[in-house]
Amino acid sequence: MITINHLKKAYPNVTPLKDVNTTINRGDVISIIGPSGTGKSTLIRCINMLETPTSGEIIVDGETITDPKCQLDKVRQKMGMVFQSFNLFNHMTVIENLMAAPMDLLGKSRQEAYDRGIELLRTVGLADKALNYPDELSGGQKQRVAIARTLAMDPEIILFDEPTSALDPTMVGEVEAVIRSLAKKGLTMMIVTHEMRFAREVANRVFYMDDGGIYEDGTPEQIFDHPQKERTIRFIRHLKVFEEKITSHDFDFIGLVGKLEEFGRKNQVSQKTIYRMQQVFEEICVQIILPELTGDFNMVFAVEYSPETEALSMRFTYDGERFDPLESDNQLSLRIAQRSADSIEYEYGEEYGNKVTVTIGA
Ligand SMILES: Nc1ncnc2c1ncn2[C@@H]1O[C@H](COP(=O)(O)OP(=O)(O)OP(=O)(O)O)[C@@H](O)[C@H]1O
Ligand SMILES: [Mg+2]
Repeated sequence: MITINHLKKAYPNVTPLKDVNTTINRGDVISIIGPSGTGKSTLIRCINMLETPTSGEIIVDGETITDPKCQLDKVRQKMGMVFQSFNLFNHMTVIENLMAAPMDLLGKSRQEAYDRGIELLRTVGLADKALNYPDELSGGQKQRVAIARTLAMDPEIILFDEPTSALDPTMVGEVEAVIRSLAKKGLTMMIVTHEMRFAREVANRVFYMDDGGIYEDGTPEQIFDHPQKERTIRFIRHLKVFEEKITSHDFDFIGLVGKLEEFGRKNQVSQKTIYRMQQVFEEICVQIILPELTGDFNMVFAVEYSPETEALSMRFTYDGERFDPLESDNQLSLRIAQRSADSIEYEYGEEYGNKVTVTIGA
């Protein structure tokens, strides 16, 4: 469906893409991962000609789009693009956002564009927001609208550039779920992401980008479990992220503490830090926050470890009313947690709810 031959993109000071060669087949779902600055965004921007390649060719359905004679408008219509920052028209309602381009560019009637728009909003779970303005939606909902708007153009491939990275963790799941459902329907997609769990589960192929191009290309299992090349191995080994959702007071506490221990050991976290991390989890999360959450709730517990600095950060995000654990009456638990942690910070935001960040060993 898309063939890329000797693609090069040079900027005055850097050449992120030196020589990219690959073929993308219809139905491929490709996760693009790799360190910052390795040309992941540049690659997908070249594919839909938002950037003009310095040299090389890109052939889409037999048409060489890098040829100056190519009619770019037609080709671009086949390629939907979803950005980190939604890019919705704020002065238009949700449904108007979905109707505009199909009416202007595909010549659809108002009624057709409306019907299709509503149908697509249904597939992303937002039919009841059709008449709202983007400002009235959460970040996750905005991104789902942006995806529906892209689908309204009936693209043959959708290119996503970090679709969840501007979202709070509690909203990442709903957007990932929509993308996953599109993958199941057989859409062709390329997804740049830093969410490794998602990169792995959604795709049939993974591009690891480094060193001026697609450094290693394989199935998720090959790239994540059996990387072959030096830089991929190093990158995969350094992924130090742990994440769990807690949605019930009856969650598997023992199992989770065990997984934390395993995460720590796998990443060579010192035993002392593992112990401190478990203690913070027990006191802040189990003793202080969870008893305050009633009814249906969502909590995301994430840990990141940086082997270079040996700093570990734990993050708890949860919905519901504002609740600052640092103001808890449970002085005993609070004191134990504060002794185990180097810092505990609480934030609250309309968009993301409650967020507690704990650092250990920074
Ligand atoms: N318009 C531009 N002009 C000059 N340099 C640019 C431009 N766009 C990107 N670059 C440079 O090209 C390199 C690759 O950038 P790119 O945005 O593709 O990286 P990336 O892999 O998407 O990184 P990240 O994970 O941080 O998003 C970087 O060094 C960047 O500074
Ligand atoms: Mg990028």
